[in-house]
Amino acid sequence: MRGAMGQGLASAVTALLIPSVAAQDRWCGKSYQASPAYSSPLVIPGGRLEPPSLSYTPLLDLKITPRHSIYIASEEGGEFIVDAAISYIHGSPWSRSTNDTAEQPDRLKVTIAWQNQTLAMGTIEPNTTDNMFPVDLKTLEPRMEGYPITLTAVSRNSDSKYSVTTELFLLPEKSTGSVVKIDHLYGSLLYRNPTTNGVFLPVFPYGFYGDYSGYLNVSASNIEKYVSLGFNTVNVVSSFAEDDMSATIGTMDRLNLLFQYDMRGSYKNLSSIAWQVPLVKDHPSLLTWYTADEPDGWQDPLDAPQQAYDLIASLDKYHPTALVLNCQNYHFAEYSAGADIIMEDAYPIGINATYSEKWNTPCNETFGDCGCDNCEGTVLDVPARVDDFHTYQAWLGGTATRQPVWAVPQSFSIPEDYWSRDPTAEEAWVMDMLAFNHGAKARLAWIYPTSDALGNALSRIAKVVTASPVADFLTGANPVLLQDGKHGGGLDVAYWKYGDQVLVSVVAPGDSAANVGIALPADIQVMRVVSSPWGGIGWTLDGTTLRAKGGLPSLATSLIILQ
Ligand SMILES: *[C@@H]1O[C@H](CO)[C@@H](O)[C@H](O)[C@H]1NC(C)=O
Ligand SMILES: *[C@@H]1O[C@H](CO)[C@@H](O)[C@H](O)[C@H]1NC(C)=O
Ligand SMILES: *[C@@H]1O[C@H](CO)[C@@H](O)[C@H](O)[C@H]1NC(C)=O
Ligand SMILES: *[C@@H]1O[C@H](CO)[C@@H](O)[C@H](O)[C@H]1NC(C)=O
Ligand SMILES: *[C@@H]1O[C@H](CO)[C@@H](O)[C@H](O)[C@H]1NC(C)=O
Ligand SMILES: *[C@@H]1O[C@H](CO)[C@@H](O)[C@H](O)[C@H]1NC(C)=O
Ligand SMILES: *[C@@H]1O[C@H](CO)[C@@H](O)[C@H](O)[C@H]1NC(C)=O
Repeated sequence: MRGAMGQGLASAVTALLIPSVAAQDRWCGKSYQASPAYSSPLVIPGGRLEPPSLSYTPLLDLKITPRHSIYIASEEGGEFIVDAAISYIHGSPWSRSTNDTAEQPDRLKVTIAWQNQTLAMGTIEPNTTDNMFPVDLKTLEPRMEGYPITLTAVSRNSDSKYSVTTELFLLPEKSTGSVVKIDHLYGSLLYRNPTTNGVFLPVFPYGFYGDYSGYLNVSASNIEKYVSLGFNTVNVVSSFAEDDMSATIGTMDRLNLLFQYDMRGSYKNLSSIAWQVPLVKDHPSLLTWYTADEPDGWQDPLDAPQQAYDLIASLDKYHPTALVLNCQNYHFAEYSAGADIIMEDAYPIGINATYSEKWNTPCNETFGDCGCDNCEGTVLDVPARVDDFHTYQAWLGGTATRQPVWAVPQSFSIPEDYWSRDPTAEEAWVMDMLAFNHGAKARLAWIYPTSDALGNALSRIAKVVTASPVADFLTGANPVLLQDGKHGGGLDVAYWKYGDQVLVSVVAPGDSAANVGIALPADIQVMRVVSSPWGGIGWTLDGTTLRAKGGLPSLATSLIILQ
């Protein structure tokens, strides 16, 4: 988190990371030279992802993904997700045959196999995604090594043949600690530990990065307080490379506070990782590994996250790995390849997005650092960054398209030169809900403890989004964006369909709005408002239009469940 730098947090790790201006450029590859003589060549930073050039003819973007990042021996059934999108970026040439008619549309005959053993077969339509294929895991032996899987698809009408591969993990049973996996259909996490009675439960991680030596390690009661506020996950900003964390981890195990283990200060030292992972991997509250903290901002070696990732996976395949990227568009491809989960940490509140008083330079595409890379300094920078990452993933294609994105919103309360004030409670709620509307699958803000005002405000929303019914939607469906607040300054509206119910999230990121009528798509088929679990706004359903009684104030956030 950029917030750590120069804030004088009482943490050995963050203190060590404070750079000297001369030591390195930490501006996402941009030029920096102190005022008044900013005369360096104005070079557009390298490492930018640009829109790929498009194919003139349609391509079949055939993909196969195991539904879960790992399966374990005690699970009997698994699934594969098969996508057959028609794309102009990725895939093999897709030609419609002359005998492809409305009466006899083309179909793909699909075979999923490991070597010569067929695991599943079926037929799918071209230009569809999320086709599910069940597989009987009992026909495979659990092992640490992945199973190379081949998907073959044959066009019925043209006889064209397509083939792609993936890797399936069916791991031996694990008797100690937690097991955590990614559900690639929804990008959410499933965890199993001694508190879940042997079943995998979905979790919507909602919490903070937490100060270790100044707070969490000070007393168990500080951790108890954090849990009592409703936060279910924490990224403790320390590791065994800095201090013996046994007591803190012991308390988190006792309270079932899920944690992300943070190796920011040591992830480039592979012998340190090899020493740390065995100390942590069998704890019941371990959720995820965390390697690089803003490797793009620091310009860490491009392959450092990948090297750490490969080593962690070889030592512990039972938990996913995350990292955070600070830049808007700087070597995303290389850094994001080194993690299962990519976090964004745009902090737009209280910044001057165009001029840095800290460095006395302007900030723009080629120059300077204003604390939020290429931001505008509004709450909308958060969903814009989440969208950017999803766009890059679509450009990269392949496995990147199902890599979850998590949000790291601004919730710190420390005077700092980039950030002149704290977010208000309403702004903090808005940034959270905008991130969720745009597909963020978890949220760990920087940094706890925050002000009492923000802590209490975020406690209220934590208790709503981490528990049923809202968490069922957030983990068991993907949001469909109905209105994008980034365009036209209007409302930002998304919905999640889960079972026969629909959760609608309405955010007013800008001005207040009177006479709010949100047209819902007819195919979601809802009849009535069941409840409004967040926001204190009254809603009525008028046909397929959702109407707010009395309009929406500026910075309103509201959740509505319909049936
Ligand atoms: C399948 O492959 C295995 C290993 O390559 C081989 O031993 C076996 O004979 C093959 N079975 C069939 C039915 O081809
Ligand atoms: C794929 O489906 C979309 C709608 O879902 C449609 O607009 C598009 O024309 C289809 N493409 C092809 C090549 O059939
Ligand atoms: C369509 O034409 C191909 C040859 O181009 C042929 O192999 C296939 O059987 C035909 N399909 C149908 C449904 O007639
Ligand atoms: C963490 O707490 C333990 C036990 O109170 C203490 O010995 C240790 O010095 C603390 N570490 C830090 C970095 O404060
Ligand atoms: C790397 O980690 C090892 C094992 O913890 C440690 O002995 C070594 O000093 C570390 N190297 C550096 C350069 O920090
Ligand atoms: C940013 O700083 C510049 C230079 O001090 C100033 O002119 C401008 O008004 C500031 N913008 C904001 C939004 O504070
Ligand atoms: C960025 O700011 C510098 C310093 O004012 C200026 O020379 C440069 O042209 C600007 N770059 C862009 C892309 O506007």
